[in-house]
Amino acid sequence: MIPQPFIDDLLARTDIADVVGRYVKLRRAGANLLGLCPFHGEKSPSFTVSPTKQFYHCFGCGAHGSAIGFLMDHAGLGFVDAVAELAQQAGVDVPRERDDEPQRRRDPGVLESLAAAARFYKRRLVDSQRAIDYLKARGLSGATAARFAIGYAPEGWRPLEGAVADYGASALLGAGLVIEPDAEDGQAPTAERRKRYDRFRDRIMFPIRNPRGQVIGFGGRILDRGEPKYLNSPETEVFSKGRELYGLYEARDVLRREGCAIVVEGYMDVVMLAEHGVGNAVATLGTATTGDHVRKLLRLVDRVVFAFDGDAAGRKAAWRALQNCLPHANDIKRIDFMFLPAEHDPDSFVREHGADGFAAAVAAATPLSAYMLQALRDGNDLDTAEGRARMLAQAVPLLEALGAPGLRLQIGHALAAAAGIGREELDAYLEIAAQRNETRTARAGDTPGRGGRGGTPADWTRDDASGYGGGPAPGPDDGWSGGRREGSAGGSGRGSFRGSGGGDRRGGKGREYGAGAPLRPRAPVRRPDLERRLRLLAARHPALAVEAGTASWLPAGLAAWFAELARLPAGADFEAACMALAAIAPEDVERVRGDAARDPVAIARLGEDEAVAEMRDALAQLRQRDLRAQIDALVGAGLETEADRLKYQELMALARQT
Ligand code: UTP
Ligand code: MN
Repeated sequence: MIPQPFIDDLLARTDIADVVGRYVKLRRAGANLLGLCPFHGEKSPSFTVSPTKQFYHCFGCGAHGSAIGFLMDHAGLGFVDAVAELAQQAGVDVPRERDDEPQRRRDPGVLESLAAAARFYKRRLVDSQRAIDYLKARGLSGATAARFAIGYAPEGWRPLEGAVADYGASALLGAGLVIEPDAEDGQAPTAERRKRYDRFRDRIMFPIRNPRGQVIGFGGRILDRGEPKYLNSPETEVFSKGRELYGLYEARDVLRREGCAIVVEGYMDVVMLAEHGVGNAVATLGTATTGDHVRKLLRLVDRVVFAFDGDAAGRKAAWRALQNCLPHANDIKRIDFMFLPAEHDPDSFVREHGADGFAAAVAAATPLSAYMLQALRDGNDLDTAEGRARMLAQAVPLLEALGAPGLRLQIGHALAAAAGIGREELDAYLEIAAQRNETRTARAGDTPGRGGRGGTPADWTRDDASGYGGGPAPGPDDGWSGGRREGSAGGSGRGSFRGSGGGDRRGGKGREYGAGAPLRPRAPVRRPDLERRLRLLAARHPALAVEAGTASWLPAGLAAWFAELARLPAGADFEAACMALAAIAPEDVERVRGDAARDPVAIARLGEDEAVAEMRDALAQLRQRDLRAQIDALVGAGLETEADRLKYQELMALARQT
């Protein structure tokens, strides 16, 4: 048994648009996302995904469900596997409740605890004159405070004790609301639990909500001076700084209306912009802007504007954001960068210049391409051949990562001009560099880069290079180009320019800002086990196996499975099927029995027509996958012979038919 609160928390942390988006091309349509339904054939899209309600629904065929349901019904995973898949993507472990355990009193889930805490903090703000005075002094109105559900965590060690039913509940620790000295994985003995105390004490509380409006964490600001100025929730089952954006929920209507999101650095920036009527600002949570952030935003809006402070730290953060944007850029959407005067952050800027002044600054923001080119030019002495070569070397990984082919072309033109070479020369150069890059990637193996470098190329030249690769001074190839890797010992990936930035916890994702193709990397997805699903379907409905088994392209094991079933007398049931199959594939039978026992879509109860449709669908998917693999192999081999090219055309035609 997987505990229900865990499933609730997992769904709260998952974005269904991500899950579905891996299988179905989605575009924005009003509040929802729209695409071609993967559950029935259609030419015009009637399949919708709701980011706020977190479910999918097809107006054509009525398919409907959550992220878990989608993985089960579309990818063919069982319930447990679907949960495991989502948990893996979220980077959490699936807890198990032993079935034979006596039914315990249901622990409140992490989300429930966070919601209770948020309500408590909000109530406490009302009766803390000191907190109200602080917010007023910063220029915040009650209406805006209410819009963001801002609260106050009172002084004292355990104020939350009065707000929750059981201060010893493990969910409080799991939610990051309490701190337990030396507690390990939430299983502290009762004596330890008594030593618990509140994480947030005497702070202004900013609840962080997911797109569904559920509170998933908090930022707490100290009222006076002190350290740390902001205390944030730790990473929990439902909260991951590198993925969430503060204010996204509150901004949702304005984002939709304006089609533009402004990304700032601080809670107060978001809140004060809203106070002044700029309702489409969101903030990263004290981390660098990650690819996840950018992807999330570009799904909601057509234009993302990053607002950074004008100082060196701001420029560094901007460059980091640029790097992480590249794979997600496309030629339709716009990504811009605005730099505020050094003495300002968005909060102080909008207070001084008002909404109009801020709007003017947004309008004047620098497009991604211009910012990138400017940084490349500024970082190098273009009067020398060395400087121009270095600029090109620095541009290689950026261009490779850029997911917008048109923009890549445009930047290429400008770059060639700046380097004083022709366009063809640039292409030839990029080709060579890409090849070198591949050898580098191969050698670095799967070790993800260790976080991208901060700072613009210019910053690097001056002060940032020493920490990288141990080189004494930034040479002509300080990790940007293919050069250093070739010559250096090790090649461990350290210093290679592939990390996605600080906020990203999950190792595998570190490569999203990748060297070499493919240019639009996706989160790794375990392939849905179609064969396993087909085995179950066929064992449940042996009559179907007769027809299905005739396809010549079936994997051998599956073909044998079908053949065995086809030999059964008409009317044979699951049990009879398993007995017969045990003779040829005992392990598969074991697995199928397990799948059947927890089969959540109840394949057993499908009507004959439905079972036929399921079977056909799963076979078609399997066939597509088989054809894809063959096509990829041919393309990978270069399509050099006439025979290969013919074969390719044939496969493509088959793939279109299936
Ligand atoms: P800033 O230090 O720039 O603060 O931190 P701010 O947003 O201008 O805050 P005010 O105006 O003084 O209230 C920007 C962001 O960095 C994170 C927070 O997310 C903050 O909003 N931060 C900052 C922390 O997480 N911890 C800190 O101690 C400081
Ligand atoms: Mn500020």
